[in-house]
Amino acid sequence: MEKTIDEKKQGETLILDQKEGNKRKLFIESYGCAMNFSDSEIVASILTDQGFNTTQNLEDADLVLVNTCSIRDKAEQTVRKRLEKYNAVKKAHNPNMKVGVLGCMAERLKSKFLEEEKIVDLVVGPDAYKDLPNLLAEVDEGRDAINVILSKEETYGDVAPVRLNSNGVTAFVSITRGCDNMCTFCVVPFTRGRERSRDPQSIVEEINDLWNKGYKEVTLLGQNVDSYLWYGGGLKKDFDSASDLQKATAVNFSKLLELCAHAQPKMRFRFSTSNPQDMTLDVIKTMSKYNNICNYVHLPVQSGSDRILKKMNRLHTRHEYFELIDNIKAIIPDCAISHDMITGFPTETEEDHEDTLSLMTYVKYDFGYMFAYSERPGTLAERKMEDDVPEATKKRRLAEIVALQQEHSKLRTEAQLNKTVEVLVEKESKKSKAQWAGRSPQNTMVVFPKAEYKIGDFVMVKVTNCTSATLIGEAIGYSENN
Ligand code: SAH
Ligand code: F3S
Repeated sequence: MEKTIDEKKQGETLILDQKEGNKRKLFIESYGCAMNFSDSEIVASILTDQGFNTTQNLEDADLVLVNTCSIRDKAEQTVRKRLEKYNAVKKAHNPNMKVGVLGCMAERLKSKFLEEEKIVDLVVGPDAYKDLPNLLAEVDEGRDAINVILSKEETYGDVAPVRLNSNGVTAFVSITRGCDNMCTFCVVPFTRGRERSRDPQSIVEEINDLWNKGYKEVTLLGQNVDSYLWYGGGLKKDFDSASDLQKATAVNFSKLLELCAHAQPKMRFRFSTSNPQDMTLDVIKTMSKYNNICNYVHLPVQSGSDRILKKMNRLHTRHEYFELIDNIKAIIPDCAISHDMITGFPTETEEDHEDTLSLMTYVKYDFGYMFAYSERPGTLAERKMEDDVPEATKKRRLAEIVALQQEHSKLRTEAQLNKTVEVLVEKESKKSKAQWAGRSPQNTMVVFPKAEYKIGDFVMVKVTNCTSATLIGEAIGYSENN
């Protein structure tokens, strides 16, 4: 199971508001995590000022950009396939088309991309998007262009993203970039650089702007949101040498959540991703204090075995994770919890795998994103450990945890039967034109007959039926939040 913000959206062509007078056509698509989708909105904003409007038609594009993911080998293979497709379209229909790669693969492969993939004219890493105008000028003059410099400051806090592919109701807002955690399996610290936080004022301004445009829900994004720390700029790791005044006035994640919840009391807030080693009780208490912060935490654990957690450089034990879960459930009894899990990390035994299964049984997660270990070049695990669990074993263990998760998901959705949940209407149901689809605060998809309701409404829905992933119900009226 690949982790995505929404399986359907992967690679979908993005549409941006067309600016009058813009002549050049941009085709932009994104793969991977929510941060990539959010970054593409920043790129679209920068290119709108360079005379580009978007097109959904590859054959018309003057410029094709693909925002790439390196998290697992399969994600990279997907992008390679897209490059083949661009190549075919260029040859058959559009000889002047230029192709650029953005994101994590650009950062990981750097100039190798230009050598390996002849179709690529432009390589831009995640911190270099503001250099796109200069890079494009080079491409226009017939040269390949590259910028993969990682930054200590860039947060794009001053770029107003152009909302792409938007339902006009929910939006992502980036709050940190990079990651300092160095989990031994993970390529992100290498492709997205050191951790830095965005000025809270620019975050609140973006949220206010979204509210004024009719948006009703914001997900605050970071690789590791709990380590958000604003003390006037700078890397997270340099905070210790900040001045006393900077320390006294610093804004941590729980304060930021409070600022957001307070700034727009009718807007729903979510956040992703939390790391168990960094999540504080303060964050949980802030969640319980504000009704508009959704009772849902995505809390990746990766393994249930202490031995494997240590080898992964996850800086908490199984026991400490249980304590955190117990605290969340004690303070917010109806809080939904989801996870990421990896099977077949180097040296993982059947006993370790049993520990993962028993951890899942203890927590009974609402849902989860599960993966077979994929060795990533340059990571500590790749350099120091042998990828020694056979592929078939990884896959079998993956199937076992997926099956167990499905049981737990079903328990969770069944527990909602006959209860009433608040749903923010996001879109038409995929299965029926007569039904709306939206999410509960706990992040479960809910479908119900449309009646007089419309997209963007908060509706109270009585749950009458369910599958393991979806609640099915009847609207009983507007929420008082409406
Ligand atoms: N903190 C990040 C995590 C990014 S990676 C976030 O914002 O979500 C998302 C998930 O991919 C991780 O939690 C992990 O479960 C999985 N993953 C990362 N590297 C992997 C690898 N080498 N093989 C398999 N799964 C991996
Ligand atoms: Fe990756 Fe671990 Fe950071 S999974 S993104 S290094 S928290």
